[in-house]
Amino acid sequence: MIVNTELEQKGNLFPSKIIKYTKDVDTLHFTTDNNVVLQVTVVRDSVIRFRYSTTGKFEKDFSYGVTVHASRGYSFLKVSEEKTHYIITTSKLICKVEKLSLQVSLYDAIDLKLINEDEIGFHWEESYEYGGDIVKMSKACQKAESFYGLGDKPVEVNMKGKRFENWATDSYAFGKNTDPIYKAIPFYTAIQDNKSYGIFFDNTFKTHFDFAHERRNVTSFWAQGGEMNYYFIYGPKMEDVVANYTDLTGKPHTLPPLWALGFHQCKWSYYPESNVKEITKTFRDLKIPCDAIYLDIDYMDGFRCFTWDKKHFPDPKRMVRELEEDGFKTVVIIDPGIKIDLEYDVFKEALDKDYFCKRADGPYMKGKVWPGECYFPDFTKPEVREWWSGLFQELIEDIGVKGVWNDMNEPAVMDVPNKSFPDDVRHDYDGNPCSHRKAHNIYGTQMARATYHGLKKYAYPKRPFVITRSAYSGAQRYTSTWMGDNVATWEHLAIANNQAQRMAMSGFSFAGSDIGGFAEQPQGELFARWIQLGVFHAFCRVHSSGDHGDQEPWVFGTEITDIVRKFVEIRYQLLPYLYTAFWNHINHGTPILKSLVLYDQEDVATHYRSDEFIFGDSILVCPILEPNSKGRRMYIPRGTWYNFWTDEVVEGGREVWVDADLDSMPIFIKEGAVIPKYPVQQYVGEKKFDEITLDVYYKEGKEKSQLFDDAHDGYDYKKGRYSLRTFKVTGKKNELILQQHKQGKFDAEYTNFNIVFHNLPFKITSVQIDNVVVEVNKSNTTQFQSITVDKEFTELHLFGK
Ligand code: GLC
Repeated sequence: MIVNTELEQKGNLFPSKIIKYTKDVDTLHFTTDNNVVLQVTVVRDSVIRFRYSTTGKFEKDFSYGVTVHASRGYSFLKVSEEKTHYIITTSKLICKVEKLSLQVSLYDAIDLKLINEDEIGFHWEESYEYGGDIVKMSKACQKAESFYGLGDKPVEVNMKGKRFENWATDSYAFGKNTDPIYKAIPFYTAIQDNKSYGIFFDNTFKTHFDFAHERRNVTSFWAQGGEMNYYFIYGPKMEDVVANYTDLTGKPHTLPPLWALGFHQCKWSYYPESNVKEITKTFRDLKIPCDAIYLDIDYMDGFRCFTWDKKHFPDPKRMVRELEEDGFKTVVIIDPGIKIDLEYDVFKEALDKDYFCKRADGPYMKGKVWPGECYFPDFTKPEVREWWSGLFQELIEDIGVKGVWNDMNEPAVMDVPNKSFPDDVRHDYDGNPCSHRKAHNIYGTQMARATYHGLKKYAYPKRPFVITRSAYSGAQRYTSTWMGDNVATWEHLAIANNQAQRMAMSGFSFAGSDIGGFAEQPQGELFARWIQLGVFHAFCRVHSSGDHGDQEPWVFGTEITDIVRKFVEIRYQLLPYLYTAFWNHINHGTPILKSLVLYDQEDVATHYRSDEFIFGDSILVCPILEPNSKGRRMYIPRGTWYNFWTDEVVEGGREVWVDADLDSMPIFIKEGAVIPKYPVQQYVGEKKFDEITLDVYYKEGKEKSQLFDDAHDGYDYKKGRYSLRTFKVTGKKNELILQQHKQGKFDAEYTNFNIVFHNLPFKITSVQIDNVVVEVNKSNTTQFQSITVDKEFTELHLFGK
């Protein structure tokens, strides 16, 4: 037994020595003589689960976070016993368990170097008030170790030196460092000595994380109840850690419909119908592409979910159809609070069927939200989720609404000190009855899950689109998300940048901020800078509270309108590129945004960078975060990059000044990249086109890029009706070869690629397509030379001098 007097005096208990060891296939049990059991499960060669019981018995093994589809299986597993410890070896990891203390240490199985080790390791405090334990884990923190992830925390990307709490909280106008806010994602990645690992603490109680804040050489995490139950995920590449975590907690079940990657306009609230139409018409008149228009709570009758205010929206079905004819998809808000009103069907049915949450002694959980006093469905009960999903039939199938926005699902309650339910509220937790202490952090995810199933059913054969405010690990399977009620300040622009990167590094890529800020009104300059960042976030929506003035792209004068149009057009041109990144995300768990540390972990200069990030695989973006800027200094990661605007070549691995007047921002393309681009459209599917552009950025050497395509909606891609084109660029002094390999059965409408070559160091003298010499326009001698080819070409060969 470890003696740690100080901690002992504070009521902490520790495991004593191992007296028994058993093994059953992939799972080992170590039992100590004070009845602590450590269960070690080898999930994959690089993923090991550690679970501790202080009573000799484990809870029923149930998790909302881990998906049943997670990959399992290892290529190698050996367990051996030494004098002082046990050794578990897989092809990637060596795990030691100390006999005297139950302490765990983990090593790279190839170079045998230490990755991570327990400091005290597992310890706990008994909870007199609630029963069970406060379960704790402490680990040694290496000197140069850094930490990333944890969902939506509004802090710099690297969390070293900070402490956090996970308790989903409605946080109107939160600030930098406000903690906790809306989400509870108990997963982080760490890097030290060029080795990256992750820890997913799968516990829905309030959890805490300390990254060398209290003690410089210790990181720790603990929970107010439940089990110490965490997954250790080894890279050593950070990208693999995030991918494996995403595999464990689930990739999005479906690709979003392509329109959902377009531009969205929202406000609290657009009404009546004439106002909605005026907004959508102005988008079309000003030629600012837009795909989605949102209706906030005022579309409802007295804020009753699944109803319409017939005065302001006399014929929603006609309106939604007309909007759709103009390319606008209607997205509506649905909150969890159901107004107490016996005349209201939804309330009446849930009451009759006993679907509302109750307090410990039986009364209903009553709380105030927008409609006034409400009851709240217990989304942790399968039957309730099924019922909830059925409520969408009219909205989706009949009226034609295309997306649903779930808000206030932390759950938020107004005018009470803790902004949510009291702890004693009871939940079903999928047949594992518990109090709100355990269900709070998962409530929002289960609501979004039920909503997702409703949309999936009634939008069929189209794909669902859901957006949620609250989330626990795994929510990314069902929904997109936004960061809640931010503020129209420059500081919040930086926070939005950090949050979107942090979410992507936490397995949740389909995320974005309220562009322009929710509270307050931005100046035109801030709005323009925010649009510039927002078009590089997977979810791209302007939203505002409407209290402080309008926030449409045209309210800040023509200069700003033109800048917004220019950047939204770039977004629409890059849709095939973003769609391909999304495909990689749902297939391989690859994050759509990559903080520089994830992009190039070997370069320690990236470990503390927050501003710059990689969008997809090959586009480097750095927002302008200060007023009156003519440009900024930024870090260019190692390698060679092309300035997106000028094609100027920049060598990375250093900080450089980049010009960026208000109508520009620093964007760079990795050399060798092939960037697919659509023509500008006002909305997805507006135009049929014969060709799309491939921007090829010359590189001396080799590089690969991909282009995914399918019908942009529906499920046929799951049956192989998609196309995945791999482009291989090979550049030599006086030659460039572009090879294409196509997989999949989908045939896009367009027939040609317009291939634009950037920065060829030679003048083209001849061109061969699939080994046949073709005529080139000799007068075309600028550096941006382009050639139109049939999209099914397999090899294009440029010769020059
Ligand atoms: C919450 C949401 C916000 C929404 C408002 C009214 O504050 O975060 O996005 O507009 O409620 O529904």
